[in-house]
This record gives sequence, structure tokens and C-alpha cells, in this order.
Amino acid sequence: MTSSWNEEVHRNDPYEPGPVTVVERKQLAPNIQLLTVHAPVVAAKILPGNFVIVRADQTSERTPLTVADWDRQAGTVSCVFMTVGTSTYKLSKLKKGDVVPTFAGPLGKPFEVETWGDVLLIGGCYGIGIIYPLARALKEKGNRVISVIEGRSSFLLYWRERLEAVSDEVVYATKDLSLGDDRDAADVIEGLVKKGVPLQRVFVNGCTFLMYHMSQVTKPHGIKTIVSLNPIMIDGTGMCGVCRVSVGGATRFACVDGPDFDGHEVDWTELLQRRKSYLTEEIIPQSTSRCEEHAGNA
Ligand code: FES
Repeated sequence: MTSSWNEEVHRNDPYEPGPVTVVERKQLAPNIQLLTVHAPVVAAKILPGNFVIVRADQTSERTPLTVADWDRQAGTVSCVFMTVGTSTYKLSKLKKGDVVPTFAGPLGKPFEVETWGDVLLIGGCYGIGIIYPLARALKEKGNRVISVIEGRSSFLLYWRERLEAVSDEVVYATKDLSLGDDRDAADVIEGLVKKGVPLQRVFVNGCTFLMYHMSQVTKPHGIKTIVSLNPIMIDGTGMCGVCRVSVGGATRFACVDGPDFDGHEVDWTELLQRRKSYLTEEIIPQSTSRCEEHAGNA
């Protein structure tokens, strides 16, 4: 019997040997998607902060996604991602029952979870999903967890009940003040410091600019700030060198040395430039494929 390319790929995948099927894919907020797949081998080992590398089809690039939740018994893993280019657009079109040709993981080092005391978790965009399992783990470890989620408006803030269930306090920050009293997470940090809350750690997840900005805000206060970097990746196992970042003057590979690093030591200028390297290649095919779709529906 001849095997399909999918079967060949799965046999060669060292992490998840069986076919990985989509259990659910839904929109959580505009441009923000939840993807849940059946991947029992990955689900059995995953920890907060680990990431997986996913491909929607045979021609997609390998996209790293940090996990947002899992169910070890059901063997499922969930990721939250933002649709930004061709490959994430393809991921956003997956339907229940579709087979994902690549789902490699767990990759990267998990978050360090210790008992520190008052910890602040900041999430924006897809980072809201990522801080959820971290909040849960930190709370279980006995920390006082304050979660801050920020966005332009309240309709962009998803998983509010979930975060409330695993945090001591959830603070909402919206640019238009449609929810919460603060316009962004920087205001929340300054407010907590002013109130004398003894923050021991700040964890930031979301776009590169958010992580850069929060690191700038916490630095003068001397609050250790951990960011989860999201450079371009290919293999995710330390072999290609594409994910290199400069931290504390040394070259590090985000996929194996991270993705979490001290935000006060990251060379943000270099990282922001490298993130833009393939923007054109990502955006142009995306708009072309959407035009073709519209033409097909006409
Ligand atoms: Fe290739 Fe990190 S993605 S070395």
C-alpha cells in the first residue's frame, strides 16, 4: 500500500508520531485564533512556556506557537495565534478533522516557576492565551498572581473568566477605557509600584514592542522582567541559527536557550529589525491568495 505524504511526514516526525488532527479552531477576537489539536505525545510532556512548531500544509513555513493550554487525558494541545501572514492565515482556515502535517514539540525551555511572592503577568494579543497556563502554574506554586491584559478595546480581551479563575487579581487596560481604569499595562505597573506592591517578577507575553516597552518601564524600578521572545524560527532545535538573539552581549538561540530571557538584557533594536526580515514575503502572498479566494467566490 502506498502511503500519503502526510503519513510519511508523521513517521519521520520525532515528536508526535501519529496523525495530528484538528479538534477545534475558532476565532477568539478579531485576528486572534485558537487552535486545538489531538497530539497526545506532545500533550503528555508540555509545560507552560514550551512551544510547538506547526505547519498548516505541506507548503507552509514552520510556525512556532507557544502553547496556551492542554489536556493530558484527552491528549489535546491548544495554541492561540494572531493571523499576520500567509502561514498563520492558512492555520486560521483549518477545520475540525483536518490533519496538520507538522506538529513538533514540546520545544524550548519551560517558564521558570518558583515561589516568589507578588508576580505580575502581562499579556497582549496572542500573549493573553500564553499567560493563562503560567498564571495557573504560578498560583499553584503559592504566588500572589496579578494578571494584566491589554488591548485597544474590550472586545479584544478574550479568556477573561479563565484568567480570573487562576489569578488573585486581573487588571484590564484598554486604550479607549472601555474596560478598566488604565490605558495600558505601563500605567498598571506604575500604579502598583506607587501603591507599594512588592513585585518580585514581571512576565510579559505578546508582540515584540509590548515586551520591549514593559522592559523599559520596569528597568528603573529594578523589577526582574522575563520576556518570551518570538524571533523567526525554522527548525526550533538549535540547528539553523535563524532564531539568534543578543542577550547580555552574548548570542543566544531563542529556540533552545529560551524563548524566555531577561528583558533588561535583550538587544531590542536588533530583534525588532530581524523580525521585519520577511515581512514582504509574508504579506504579499497573503493578499494575493485572498484576492484569488474572492475571485473564486464571485
Ligand atoms: Fe533554528 Fe533556533 S530555530 S536554531
